[in-house]
Amino acid sequence: MTRQRIILDCDPGRDDALAIAMALASPDELDVLGVTTVAGNVPLDLTQRNARLICELCGHPEVKVFAGAESPLKLAGVTAEHVHGGSGLEGMEVRQPAMPLQDRNAIDFIVETLETSADDEITLVATGPLTNLALAFAGRPEILPKIRRIVLMGGACREGGNVTPSAEFNIHVDPDAAHAVFACRRPLVVINIDVTNRVLATPAHADRLLNAGARPARELSRLLKPAGGARVEEFGPSGVALHDPCTIAWLLKPGLFETKLVNVSIETKGDLTLGATVVDFRGITGRQPNALWACEAASAEIIELLIDRIARL
Ligand code: RIB
Ligand code: CA
Repeated sequence: MTRQRIILDCDPGRDDALAIAMALASPDELDVLGVTTVAGNVPLDLTQRNARLICELCGHPEVKVFAGAESPLKLAGVTAEHVHGGSGLEGMEVRQPAMPLQDRNAIDFIVETLETSADDEITLVATGPLTNLALAFAGRPEILPKIRRIVLMGGACREGGNVTPSAEFNIHVDPDAAHAVFACRRPLVVINIDVTNRVLATPAHADRLLNAGARPARELSRLLKPAGGARVEEFGPSGVALHDPCTIAWLLKPGLFETKLVNVSIETKGDLTLGATVVDFRGITGRQPNALWACEAASAEIIELLIDRIARL
């Protein structure tokens, strides 16, 4: 099977860190061309540091890590230290990584990588606010045909949002960027919290990972336990929601998810509904379907896949 060539755009972030590790632990299936970072869970100076720290922990200091947008396209930034801690990696020991941050800006890396690729060759995986992708597409729309697909973690519908009753964090932080990405007419897979809120790691999963592998697994197992200062409702009564790793699980085993081709539009103006993903399940708007919306996920198998892969590091 040909390896999928991916760029992982993220805002580490506890669950982003697990997604990075899962991707780096799957070299037979995924060729990680670079990790681009964006302000989100914590400010950009921390998301880029955390991305490098995780790559280094996973034994991959050769991975190119880039810093991108420090703030959303139009709105003031929103962060989530209450969920991820002040470091963004609550529960882990955090230090300055030895591996360097690339000089090139993340948006330039995305544009240049796509420009030099063939059509339908590159998969963009986005697990943070979509600012970097939107800036790349606006700056060089000619790169769009090079995108094989965009697999993003974001959005909420059936059970409401996690930042407001309407909006999920990644979309809420930069709804204008999300609007641009959802309008780009490239294949979109939307791994939303309707399903990821059910992919809950329990302390037993954390203990299994702790004992399953070498140092990376031991360190990363701490991210499967609730962060000290985190709001309990963020993690549900029985575990830690593995939002971002679900994007990597979809790339590795898409059969673990059920999706529906629908139109998803982004609310960019509403006082109460800013950042809502408006999903037209019944096609009543007549708007063109633009996304595969994840409706179900095999949670137990996804967590087993995460443990199996990270234990290989
Ligand atoms: O709503 C969950 C998403 O927002 C995850 O990607 C988490 O890391 C935060 O970025
Ligand atoms: Ca994230």
